[in-house]
Amino acid sequence: MALLEVKDLHTSFFTDAGEVRAVNGVSFDLERGKVLGIVGESGSGKSVTAYSIMQILTSTGRIVSGSIKCDGQELVGADENVMKSIRGNKISIIFQDPMTSLNPTYTIGDQLMEAILLHTKRNKQQAWDRAVEMLHLVNVNEPEKRMKQYPFEFSGGMRQRVMIAMALACEPDILIADEPTTALDVTIQAGILELMKDIQKKMGMAIIMITHDLGVVAQLCDEVVVMYAGSICEKGTADDIFYNPCHEYTKGLLRSIPTAGNEGQKLQPITGTPIDLLNMPKGCPFAPRCDAAMKICIREKCESFEISENHTAACWMNLKKAMDRN
Ligand SMILES: Nc1ncnc2c1ncn2[C@@H]1O[C@H](COP(=O)(O)OP(=O)(O)OP(=O)(O)O)[C@@H](O)[C@H]1O
Ligand SMILES: [Mg+2]
Repeated sequence: MALLEVKDLHTSFFTDAGEVRAVNGVSFDLERGKVLGIVGESGSGKSVTAYSIMQILTSTGRIVSGSIKCDGQELVGADENVMKSIRGNKISIIFQDPMTSLNPTYTIGDQLMEAILLHTKRNKQQAWDRAVEMLHLVNVNEPEKRMKQYPFEFSGGMRQRVMIAMALACEPDILIADEPTTALDVTIQAGILELMKDIQKKMGMAIIMITHDLGVVAQLCDEVVVMYAGSICEKGTADDIFYNPCHEYTKGLLRSIPTAGNEGQKLQPITGTPIDLLNMPKGCPFAPRCDAAMKICIREKCESFEISENHTAACWMNLKKAMDRN
């Protein structure tokens, strides 16, 4: 049994304009101690998938159907008390913008200690020691002194380190990192990613790394889920995705960034705009932007084809290959 099992998850927002189908039948497993990347362009449903797992959707958002099991325990439909015990203890999340997640009026130490006291059975002194230890772990220098400072006294990169410390202080089994480095500049990004890799090795937790940056995936992830318009278009190991992409959207993503495979070639961004989630097309959601689209792509949504064990792609281009294999 995988540590986290997401099956056929559908999440929508019920707005005045209609039902926004942000997540449409997403399924994936996260194994203990592994790093799973979720990639896809802006609006593809990465954050909504994460918020569905944590059940921290805004009031108009609702999980319409599907199952999310953590350690075998069903979270969809679970009581808020159950979710409270899951959040922070079993699953922690780090958000994109560390400034909005830290309270400017409390010291870093107070906020770290609050999280530790809330989620573990430590007393105040032990919580203080643990907070200092965590700041040390995320490479914040002079942690004792830093405990007494306020968020504005920290740089962006340092604040993100604090957020990581806070998320990890309660030793969750799963850490969801939702674009943890997008708000930071490139050199600081690299440092934070190194740090996450390090901590993952030391603490052995599983990570869901949400990003639109395939470079981050290459550095960190074992398994990758590629999302487009709320659906998974391709899923496989990082090697499958980089060396044998089988969905036209994944291929497009790879053509748009420098990789070992396209050295010296001109980078090609994916043209066109994402589809309107209020009016989902009948066929493949990527078809209107896909250079290789065939008639069937417009007519019928493609179910996932199995390319190899644990590698699937929902792209009609694989039909012939799949038929040849059978
Ligand atoms: N509260 C909401 N009300 C209505 N629609 C929403 C709401 N939150 C998200 N959505 C829609 O759901 C879709 C998926 O959003 P999501 O935030 O998951 O994208 P994302 O993949 O995380 O993108 P980004 O890379 O920009 O963070 C988007 O089209 C978005 O407009
Ligand atoms: Mg997002």
